[in-house]
Amino acid sequence: MRPRIRRGRHGLDGVKADLSTRVASVNLPNPVMTASGTAGHGTELATHLDLSSLGAVVVKSLHAEPWAGNPAPRIHATPSGMINSVGLQGPGLAAWLEQDLPVLEATKARVVVSIWGRTVDEFAAAASMLATAPSCVVAVEVNASCPNLEDRRALFAHSATATSEVVDAARAARRPLWAKLSPNTPELPEVAAAAAAAGAEAVTVANTVLGMVIDTETRHPVLGAGRGGLSGPAIRPVAVRAVFDTHEAHPDLPIVGVGGISSGDDAVQFLLAGATAVQVGTATFADPAAPARILADLGRWCDHHGVATVTDLVGGAHG
Ligand SMILES: Cc1cc2nc3c(=O)[nH]c(=O)nc-3n(C[C@H](O)[C@H](O)[C@H](O)COP(=O)(O)O)c2cc1C
Repeated sequence: MRPRIRRGRHGLDGVKADLSTRVASVNLPNPVMTASGTAGHGTELATHLDLSSLGAVVVKSLHAEPWAGNPAPRIHATPSGMINSVGLQGPGLAAWLEQDLPVLEATKARVVVSIWGRTVDEFAAAASMLATAPSCVVAVEVNASCPNLEDRRALFAHSATATSEVVDAARAARRPLWAKLSPNTPELPEVAAAAAAAGAEAVTVANTVLGMVIDTETRHPVLGAGRGGLSGPAIRPVAVRAVFDTHEAHPDLPIVGVGGISSGDDAVQFLLAGATAVQVGTATFADPAAPARILADLGRWCDHHGVATVTDLVGGAHG
């Protein structure tokens, strides 16, 4: 059944608080964005919400070349969340720039393009294809939380050196860079520092938590790829802790917080932990208008708590 469009219910009408924020050099009208991989490559959510009303739309990670992704099943429901191993399926940047971006640009949304690669050179190739993208592409999110082909055991974001190399390669995009990091390393603050030193203006914290579900009847992992990434409310405390640790170690490094946000109150937790903006992912699967609903919730939360400027909340949970 086609979902009813409920834009009116999720507007900011009547909200008095100033919700504008900045992620380093990028000014946003409000702190709520979509999360990469959970809102399609373009305008998939446009029938459910006004994409231009969000802080930004973050598109699914794109490779320089088309990529088929992992075998099915790719997603599976878990307690308070889901596990996925989509495997970064995508049309490749050339096709996306030609077919998806113009439609997205027409919505007047601010666009953050997430890129990935299996090697540093593949990140460089993807980034260079964005150098001449239109100005609606306000930032490039470097998905360092993807497998490093040259180090089979690890994601790039598990290593400060590898993260620094992919961020450096992404400079070819000539856009503000945000490094998307992994919560699956105790060295997150060191990795964040390496990303910043290599040229990332901000870090996005965090990607999914590594996990697995086993089907007891078949006695094999449920997902086609075996392992997957856990997301949704189950990981919210992990992600809030990751943002808190990163802000504590680097109070001047802008952070975009993500992981299990499904209400305005959840978003406030991330702001208090130190994020200047947030992304909404898994919540969108149950409610495609979730980013707009959460934004309206956040505005009402601020008004109810006498918060005139949303950025006054940033880092508020730190001593
Ligand atoms: C189905 C699915 C696909 C995802 N694909 C990507 C991706 O392509 N690139 C990326 O950086 N993160 C990807 N993520 C991770 C999300 O952007 C987000 O960091 C994570 O799911 C935690 O947020 P959430 O709990 O709000 O979903 C994906 C998550 C899901 C559930």
